[in-house]
Parts: sequence; C-alpha cells; structure tokens
Amino acid sequence: MSETETPIRGLGHSVRRKEDDRFLRGRGNYVDDLQLPGMLHMALLRSPLAHARITAIDVEAAKAHPGVVAVVTGRDLDAHGLAWMPTLSGDTQAVLALDKVVFQGQEVAAVVAEDPYVASDALELIEVDYDPLPPVVDPYKALEPDAPLIREDKQGQTSNHINHWEKGDRGATERAFATADKVVRVETFYPRSHPAPLETCGCVADVDPATGKATIYMTSQAPHAHRTLFALVAGLPEQNIRIVSPDLGGGFGNKVPIYPGYVVATVASLLLGRPVKWVEDRTENLISTGFARDYHMTGEVALSGDGKILGLRSKVIADHGAFNAAAQPTKTPAGLFHIFTGSYDVPAAFCEVDAVYTNKAPGGIAYRCSFRVTEASFLIERLMQKAATELDVDPAELRRRNFIRPEQFPYHSVVGWVYDSGEYQRALDLALEQLGYEELRREQRERFARGELMGIGIASFTEVVGAGHGADYDIAGLRMFDSAELRVHPTGKAILKLGVKAQGQGHETTFAQIVAAELGIQPEDVAVMEGDTDNTPYGLGTYASRSTPVGGAATAMVARKLREKATRIAAHLLEVAEEDIEYAEGRFAVRGAPDRAKTIQDVAFAAYTNLPEGMEAGLEGVTYYDPPNMTFPFGTYCVVVDIDKGTGVWKVRKMVAVDDCGVRINPMIVEGQIHGGLAEGFAIAAMQQISFDEDGNCIGQNFTDYLLPTSWETPKFETHATVTPSPHHPIGAKGVGESATVGSPAAYVNAVLDALAPLGITNIDMPVTSDKVWTAMHEKGFV
Ligand code: CDP
Repeated sequence: MSETETPIRGLGHSVRRKEDDRFLRGRGNYVDDLQLPGMLHMALLRSPLAHARITAIDVEAAKAHPGVVAVVTGRDLDAHGLAWMPTLSGDTQAVLALDKVVFQGQEVAAVVAEDPYVASDALELIEVDYDPLPPVVDPYKALEPDAPLIREDKQGQTSNHINHWEKGDRGATERAFATADKVVRVETFYPRSHPAPLETCGCVADVDPATGKATIYMTSQAPHAHRTLFALVAGLPEQNIRIVSPDLGGGFGNKVPIYPGYVVATVASLLLGRPVKWVEDRTENLISTGFARDYHMTGEVALSGDGKILGLRSKVIADHGAFNAAAQPTKTPAGLFHIFTGSYDVPAAFCEVDAVYTNKAPGGIAYRCSFRVTEASFLIERLMQKAATELDVDPAELRRRNFIRPEQFPYHSVVGWVYDSGEYQRALDLALEQLGYEELRREQRERFARGELMGIGIASFTEVVGAGHGADYDIAGLRMFDSAELRVHPTGKAILKLGVKAQGQGHETTFAQIVAAELGIQPEDVAVMEGDTDNTPYGLGTYASRSTPVGGAATAMVARKLREKATRIAAHLLEVAEEDIEYAEGRFAVRGAPDRAKTIQDVAFAAYTNLPEGMEAGLEGVTYYDPPNMTFPFGTYCVVVDIDKGTGVWKVRKMVAVDDCGVRINPMIVEGQIHGGLAEGFAIAAMQQISFDEDGNCIGQNFTDYLLPTSWETPKFETHATVTPSPHHPIGAKGVGESATVGSPAAYVNAVLDALAPLGITNIDMPVTSDKVWTAMHEKGFV
C-alpha cells in the first residue's frame, strides 16, 4: 500500500454509522411514514376489564358513523377461520376476543375508516356488554385449586398451570447440598418490564385485489419468519406475501411476536381491496404487546467452608399472562434459563420452572436478552453477593475462587452448555483496577464507621447468544441459521443483502466492515440491505444478539467465497497460477513480486468483461450459515453507590463496565450498544415495572407511570474491553447488543445491598426505589 492510499476500514475501526445521516436529518422511513393511495386507517377496541365474559357486541352505531368503512369483530374473523392465531410458544391467542376477555387491553373489535381520527372516535360507538369474572393477577394464587380457570377455550386445560420444565441432575445437586458447610438462599422477583421501543408496533397491509399479492409493511424484527407464519396461518401462497420491515425505531424483542393488529389489518385489506394502516399508540404498546421477565425466583447455592461452590439449585414461577406467547426459539419452555450457573465452575446444578396463566397481557419476550438469560444471570450474581456477605469474604475474591478458568475452555457445564471461550478473571481484574477497588473498600469502611452508607456492587456475568445452531433452535420448525448474499458490481462497489434486520444497531455500517475486512472494498462502497422478504435471502431475523454471531458469520463466509473466485480471476489477469496469488487488503499480488498486483476493483471489472475460459460471469454469491455453537460474551460491571440515610435515595457515584465480545467489528458501535444496555439495566434496577392492581388494571400504561430514565437520572458509564475471540466464529466475534441489559441490573442491586448489608438488609426486589430502601432501613431501626 502506498502512503497516499487509505487503509481499508475493516474490523476494529470505529467507522461512523452510515445510517445516521438519514436518521439525524429526519429522513428515516418508518411504517407510520407510509402513505399509499386509497389507504384506510384501523383502530382497535380494547377490553377495559381483565377477566369478563362478552355477552353482546353492538357495532351498528359505529358502522353508521360517517367515514367508517367497516367494523370487524371476533365473529367476523371466525367466519373466515381466523379468530385464533398460534403463538410462538405453541399456544393459541385470540385475534379478536369471541366470548371472553382475559386481560385488560385485549383486542375486542376493529374499526376501519377513511381517517385515523374517525376510526378512533368510532370505537366509542361500539357497545360491548361484559359480565365480569374474578381476575387472577398473582401467579401463586392462579395455581390454587379453586382459582378461576382463565383458559376455558383450551380443551383439556383444567388449571392455570401451563408447563413444568427442569434441567440438571436433581440427585447430584441434593447430595452436594447435603455435604455443604454453608447454604445461601435468595428469594427474588424479577418484575415484569417492557422494552418500550421509541416507535410502537404497526403495519400497512396492502393486498392487491388484481394480483392477490399481499405486501405488508410491518414493524418486524423477523420479516422472513413472519412471512412464512402468515402463509401457514392464513393459507396464502408464500410467494404472494411480501413483508417489508422498513426503518425500525427500536425493537428490543418487542417486534418479534405477531400481534392481532397485523392480522386484522391484513384481513381488512384483503376484504376491502384497499391498503389498511394500523399503528398502535404508546398505551396500547405498553398494555398489550410483549412484556418481559415476570419471574419469581428462589435460588440456593451450596458452598464449602473456603467458599467453593458445591451445588446450585433454583425454583421459578413464571407468569406468562393470559396466552403463552413467549417469543423464544428453543425447545425448552424456559429458554436458556439453565445458563444460571453463570461464569462459575459448578459441579452440580438443578433448576425447575413452572409457567402459569394469569389475567395479564401475554408475552414473555426476550427484552434485549437471550430468552431468560437475564433472569438467570441476575439470580446467580445476587447469590454470589449474598454468599460473600454471609461468608464474610470479599465478593471479588469469592468470584475468583469459583470462575471457570481459561484452561477449562471449551467448558462443558453440568447443565449441557459448551462455553466457547472466556477469561473471566481478566475482565474482573481490569474492572476493579479501573474502579480503584481497594481504595474504595477502605473508604467504605471509614464511612460505615461514621454511620454513612456506601456500597460497591459487582456482577461478573456470562452470556449465551447467537441462536442457533439449527438442530437445537427453531421458530415453528424453521431452523435458526442466517444468510448473506453479496454481489460486487463491475465498478467494484458491492451490495450485501441480509436475512437479519436492524432496529438501530448499525448493521449498515458493521456488516459493510466485514466485507471490507474480507474483500478490501471500503465500507462506504458496500450498500447493506435488510428487511424486504422479496429482495433479501431467507433469515430468521434480529433479536437476542444473534446478528453478528450468525448473520455476521454468513457475511464473512460469502465474502470468502467471492474471494476464491476473485483469486482465480486475478491469476488469469496476471497470467500466473492461482497458487501464486497472495491476497491482502483488497490486492491480489503475485507471490514474491508485490508490485505485480490487481485490486479487487480490477478483478470485479474483469468478472464481467475478461474471464478465464469457461468461468461463469459475475462476482456474486449467497451463504446460509448454521453456527456450530452459541457464542459466550462476558464481562464485569462494577457500581459504586451512596445512599442518603434520610430519604433512601441512592446515587451511582461510579460505574465501570468491562465487556468482552470477542473481536470487535466497530468499537464505537459496541460502546454505544453497551451504553444503551447499561441505561436500560439501570432503569430496570431503579425505576421500572409493569404492575397490576388486584382487579387486573395495568399500572404503567404510559411514560408517567412506566418510567424511562432521562439523561438527568442516568449515571455516567466508563467502558473498557478485553478481547477473547470466539474460536468457532469465522471472524472471532461474539454478540454484544444485550450484554449490558443482562449483566448490569445485578451490579446496581448488589451495590445498594452492599451498602445496606451492615444493617442486616439482605434483599430488596427491583425496582429498588428510594421508598423501598427507606422502608427497609426503617424496619431495621436505622431511620
Ligand atoms: O443482533 P443484534 O444486532 O441486536 O446484536 P449484535 O450482533 O450483538 O450487534 C449489535 C451491533 O454491534 C451490530 O452493529 C454489530 O455489528 C456490532 N458488533 C460489533 O461491532 N462487534 C461485535 N463483536 C459484536 C457486535
């Protein structure tokens, strides 16, 4: 490379996000921006009650309202066999309620009108007679024998119990507990939270009456899978369905399930022969779309006198709401919860989870998380903190004694995981060094002596991301691979089409960087396309940090395929044997004569103009990548808090995050992902929850009740990295999008409880609000 040439900005370069130009200029293209000729607007009537029989619905006044084109009820859908739809967890969910409503906010009827305001107004003209039933909001009460049966529609369902699942060796774990010097127990509730993306869910369904082609513009994190599900459920030919997921204003798992609004809008467009737009408002999003967590967890760890873990067990009651609609692609009902042994070498473990119906919105989605890994990570990190307190061992030291050591990788855990790589102590040591841990512990002792409350919380989390591989992970039977299609045009500029779909993660930049690393085409010369099922290869979508582990791997592999062909073309152009060509940084040079070289641009032109005899024209390929294993990113988060004795208010003084996601494609984007996740983790730990009163009314229907942290409350974060490549990923990368949401809540809670430990306070459930802290201190006679 000459001095004037720009280096190829492949892996490890903090390339500015290409997509930000349009986002920052207000030129993004979201579902609600779409205006199609003749488009109608749909609004949904929702149940005000959590549990009630529907005895009558009168839609005549709404139908007669000027501007209303149609009113749709469950009975209308039933006539087309569409009143019920399958959920991603094998349950059935009412599209529009027929005889009974089972949660507040459930979809009961739809109005389609010429104008969105007319559609909303006309909802008030629909008369529904409800006969109230006793609502069941507490999952423990839901399991009592005399609890009202929520799912009367399900044949053979005689209780509110959905399923029982267990993993591990119960006998070996019991034996480990029998020999323990110390057993530490944590009972905690991981509250129901909501991803609350900035853009709510919605669609424009456009069924062309002439061709029968259904184009559905939809807020979808998984457009290809959604197309197949639409085809299977509605019986439409799949080639006649096109899902377009345009720019998405965040998803965080909320845009993985199929919601009734999508189905009703599509049916309405089919029947009316005009495009129909449905976009939910904030309250609809919060009360009816996929929630997360809602796990009542008990964990116990058995320890030897010197602080070695001998065994681990947990029992969970999982509140799934009224329909089991957990969006997760594993064959196990509790997803990946069995990663609950975390970063530790645990010789015996056993977990069991019972899922329960209650009169609450369905969901159980993986909010910036891999299918219950967040709950699992929180439990083990809370246990480690409590064990350290009870054994009077430094929490960092207790972790060191139990970490899986680098030489143990690939590590086979007792519950069946094969961890690909990790250096847990290195991440912990770096975090403690950056924090100034020893000095802070000294300060803490001095403050305690003066009656002041200061705490240091640690979470050394490990993650499991990148579903599949396909044999173990699927959505409705669709194996969890992903895909990349790459074409280099004659001028050496490329287009990359992907099966994944970003919601703000910067794929247009980072995936172009992978091509840059493999082929030497600069990222700005690689256009990245996602989200249009007619124009991208089949893939399973973006959630659970799977894009880099799976779609990223597919991208590297397809670029390598093209490089092989490019090498043959370069050999032809340079009139040497293929084996004599060396590739580096976009140049194909003759071995031993580096000045005799062709660039990727020369080769691309030749691929269309000057080919070796018998070679097919073009420089194009597609790869479907089924990963051999998940990737296991990890890190340590440390939080320092000060608690005000008079009010219980706790403030984060310092937060240090060390993340290891293997090879980082774009360090700036990785850092951005971690900042976002740390802010969400803080919100969950400190202020957020979707709760319900005893009548099943959802508390948290808007952003004055369901709190989002602003820049005022959000702490300052210091981020650092270690790099432990994944041995099985083509570029050594692991996912990172969800790490901080998964790992950080325990760090914040551990910090507060570390401050309160001298008072004998051992647990406060999230959100750890100041009034809960104050009450706990008050009960101990401290304030
Ligand atoms: O699946 P999702 O895009 O949500 O998560 P991800 O694969 O963890 O990636 C989030 C963003 O971080 C993407 O733009 C990735 O390409 C980028 N990333 C990276 O630059 N290096 C990594 N090792 C992992 C992710």
